[in-house]
Amino acid sequence: MNDTRVDDVSAGFRKVFGSDPEGAWTAPGRINLIGEHTDYNDGFALPIALPHSLTVAAARRQDGLVRLRSGQFPDVFEARLADLSPGSVPGWAAYQAGALWALTDEGYGIGGLDLLVESSIPTGTGLSTSAAVCCGTVLAATGLYGSEPAPAEVARLAQRAENDFAGMPCGIMDQSAVMLADEGRALFLDCRSLETEQVPFDPAAHGMSLLVVDTRAPRRLVEGAYAERRRSCEEAARILGVPALRDVSVAGLPEALAALPDDLVRRRVRHVVTENARVLEAVALLRSGRPREAGPLFTASHTSLRDDYEVSVPEVDTAVAAALSAGALGARITGGGFGGCVIALVDAEAVSDCEKAVRAAFAERGFDEPVVFTALPSAGARRLS
Ligand code: GLA
Repeated sequence: MNDTRVDDVSAGFRKVFGSDPEGAWTAPGRINLIGEHTDYNDGFALPIALPHSLTVAAARRQDGLVRLRSGQFPDVFEARLADLSPGSVPGWAAYQAGALWALTDEGYGIGGLDLLVESSIPTGTGLSTSAAVCCGTVLAATGLYGSEPAPAEVARLAQRAENDFAGMPCGIMDQSAVMLADEGRALFLDCRSLETEQVPFDPAAHGMSLLVVDTRAPRRLVEGAYAERRRSCEEAARILGVPALRDVSVAGLPEALAALPDDLVRRRVRHVVTENARVLEAVALLRSGRPREAGPLFTASHTSLRDDYEVSVPEVDTAVAAALSAGALGARITGGGFGGCVIALVDAEAVSDCEKAVRAAFAERGFDEPVVFTALPSAGARRLS
């Protein structure tokens, strides 16, 4: 089947590199339905892949050079594959370069490459463009150099690129969503065992829509604040004598909180423990065909992320409150936070009221106009040609 994405990315590749690519791959952005800041605590998450995706075109080179280009950035980054090392590549190219470095470091036997990424995922909005870039690059390089790691292994390599090359201490949720998500389903992910389950999630079949509000709030201090949250959780697990906060149950929460000396850390722990429980409840509802009832869990997740985990910002809280006041079944911040997107589970007939309410609230507060769209759970990354 002819795919215009392949034609477009191939034309772009010829323009930049002067020859045809040998293949094209696609990798989607993601939204997390629930289970935020749980992945690096060995906990649970429930993401979907978005219809928005990026396309990678690539061709092998015989001289050991890598030439990397991203549609959104005007320059080509060039280096010898053998010279790539953590910290050596600044800016956008670190994700592509990091994925190639991770493959080389783990003995995947890849060589030089020309590689172009073109994206329709809104960037800087917490929809995981970086994970999609890393996964797409791993797929392209391994596809061309004759090894085809399983999707979960691609996710692990892509996470390594972010953790060890680009310096972002993220968990495995984004990359797993990018690689393993499926149309019409949400991905229930156990971040300790890495077991997954495809859970039915078809909002339209239940008369609902999943509304996404890109608040366009500038995401400030994201990496430092994220790393600080992660450190607090690890420190709490150490004090509690458990491998990770996953091992604290809701029933055991009062005792755990009493053992922690610091109020801030207590609140972080309360978020993680209750959020894991909310994921399990949401999964049970989706499994039994009752997704509408997941709405209040979304809203409770938001409250916990706002008050206990402190990763929200005024634009996000405004969007959540406006959507709820216009009848949304539930609404919450999605992704790492400090700006980014809100999701709302909305009755199909209330979509336009919710959108209007959010726009009006933003105008009243003098915020930039938000971008609003509805999302269907879409397919994970794959080769296109
Ligand atoms: C970012 C990270 C993920 C996850 C989320 C919060 O998206 O990349 O690993 O921790 O934040 O749930």
